[in-house]
Amino acid sequence: MEEKELRLDKFLADMGKGTRSRLKEDIRKGRISVNGEVVKNADKKIRIPKDEVLFDGKPVSYVAMEYFMLNKPQGVLSATEDRRRRTVLDLIDQKKRKDLFPVGRLDADTEGLLLITNDGALSHKLLAPKSHVDKVYFARCAGKVPESAAASFAEGLLLPDGFQCLPAVLEILSVTENGETENKKTKSRETEYKKEENGKTGNEKAEGVKTETEVLLTIREGKFHQVKRMMEAVGCPVLFLKRLSMGPLTLDESLKPGEYRPLTKQELELLKQV
Ligand code: URA
Repeated sequence: MEEKELRLDKFLADMGKGTRSRLKEDIRKGRISVNGEVVKNADKKIRIPKDEVLFDGKPVSYVAMEYFMLNKPQGVLSATEDRRRRTVLDLIDQKKRKDLFPVGRLDADTEGLLLITNDGALSHKLLAPKSHVDKVYFARCAGKVPESAAASFAEGLLLPDGFQCLPAVLEILSVTENGETENKKTKSRETEYKKEENGKTGNEKAEGVKTETEVLLTIREGKFHQVKRMMEAVGCPVLFLKRLSMGPLTLDESLKPGEYRPLTKQELELLKQV
């Protein structure tokens, strides 16, 4: 690891040990030692990772960057804080850093892959419109998606509000009419997605819907309600939406909604190549 120096109060604040002013007090009171010696000045330079910092006798190790893959559940906001509702950051209870944020947003009623990090440069790269990072969504929609929709999506859909979408890939997985399901793709794939949804009523918006279509949609941009607006434009409002991947990062299907894990080294390397 490359050596880096940080003021003691900043070192502790970055690791979520309190506000800078509160930490200055703690330091003054002699609660912190560095390499076995009590340090009472907050601007003492800490050499990372060489110096050993103890707070009330407990080691504090410095982590510059954190990366988590979250399977965002419905009903949780893609924000860092909110006065009333739970946010995705509230779910990451193993975080060391206090400056984490979600890379992009999923609607409150959307589930699935969300990257949580404090790596601003990576986030910028993944979200920059010119990066054209593919995002794959599974959607269950009301009505029968016309086969012709795939060609319109491939050309670039013009939404009724005048927004011109970039070309997108629409794959119809199955159509269910009056309880009869016609699989357009291999059964195994279809049942895989079905399994995740078992017992879920979440964002069911059209009660008593008789005909439903399940699709995979790959888009290269991330405008507000983009998938919902695109499906609505072909007459099939979204009933359930889940993000499956973002660029090279694919949702770990062993994560239940609300669960998360650190990215593997390999996942991070792939993301950094975007
Ligand atoms: N498109 C939507 O409509 N909603 C999301 O949450 C993500 C993409």
